[in-house]
Amino acid sequence: MEHVPVLLEAILSMLQPAPGRTVYDATFGRGGHTRAFLERGARVVALDVDPAAEAEAQRLQAEVGSERFRFHRVNFSDLGKVVSQEGQADGLLLDLGISSPQVDQAERGFSFQQSGPLDMRMDPTTGMSAADLVNNLSEPELRNLLRDGGEDRDPGKIARGIVRARPLGTTADLATAVCRATRPARPGIKHPATRTFLALRRAVNREGEVLDQVLASVPKVLRAGGRLAVLTYHSAEDRVVKHWIRGHAEEEKREMGMAFGLPNAERWVKALGEEVPSEEEISKNPRARSARLRGAERLGEVSS
Ligand SMILES: C[S@@+](CC[C@H](N)C(=O)[O-])C[C@H]1O[C@@H](n2cnc3c(N)ncnc32)[C@H](O)[C@@H]1O
Repeated sequence: MEHVPVLLEAILSMLQPAPGRTVYDATFGRGGHTRAFLERGARVVALDVDPAAEAEAQRLQAEVGSERFRFHRVNFSDLGKVVSQEGQADGLLLDLGISSPQVDQAERGFSFQQSGPLDMRMDPTTGMSAADLVNNLSEPELRNLLRDGGEDRDPGKIARGIVRARPLGTTADLATAVCRATRPARPGIKHPATRTFLALRRAVNREGEVLDQVLASVPKVLRAGGRLAVLTYHSAEDRVVKHWIRGHAEEEKREMGMAFGLPNAERWVKALGEEVPSEEEISKNPRARSARLRGAERLGEVSS
């Protein structure tokens, strides 16, 4: 399936790509949002860890030229380093999670819909795969991973089921082990392994840690007046973004009566509100269903 960019209009009005402005797309994917930024005349600097995204970015660069579009195959936790080379941004997009082609390619191991090797690495050239984790972690370690990463309702039962079913080689092996430990999959009802797969994907790609790192680099990335837009697809991730914005937003601090005595570096953004896709967008693109967009604008200079 093609990757359809989620909440595109809302993101365009938040980030306002235009000639003379630089927008960072830290999750290039298949370039859906990037293409729209370029069409509106902005210069785009894009990042993605996935070699397949890099191949797409190379095609795009051949079309539009390196003055308008630059790509770095790095983790967005290294965004600060890229900014040292490419300069600050007027807009930064984080469209978290995985792209439709990543889900659809069985060999990437993200999906229980079709069996593939239990991989789940966004960058398949490095790091531990999901198979390494499910086959080597202890039962308590697995239970904690499932509880924290996907909010599985019965992580203990699932961890036990996984340990009993070892060794697991494929996404089908894992889905079967989870169904045996919980309940059978039924059409029209959320698959019992959904949260297990989410938790493993988050652990394999250290998603919580790199999100904290990229958010910490935002003061370096955005110039004054620059805007951040973050699309999340599950509640744990949305919570992190919401708290980060609230924690740094000037208005919130004032409301809480904490404006005085706080270092400037800690209140330097204005929250831009949140949006979710319309029913119409969801009916055209079911993968937009759980998306939530939050934005923030950088206020003045940060004195850190
Ligand atoms: C939801 S897709 C983005 C889709 C894109 N906005 C589009 O319209 O085509 C997320 C992309 O971000 C990449 N990604 C996720 N986490 C990343 C990270 N920590 N560093 C760099 N890229 C990451 C994934 O490989 C994936 O290609």
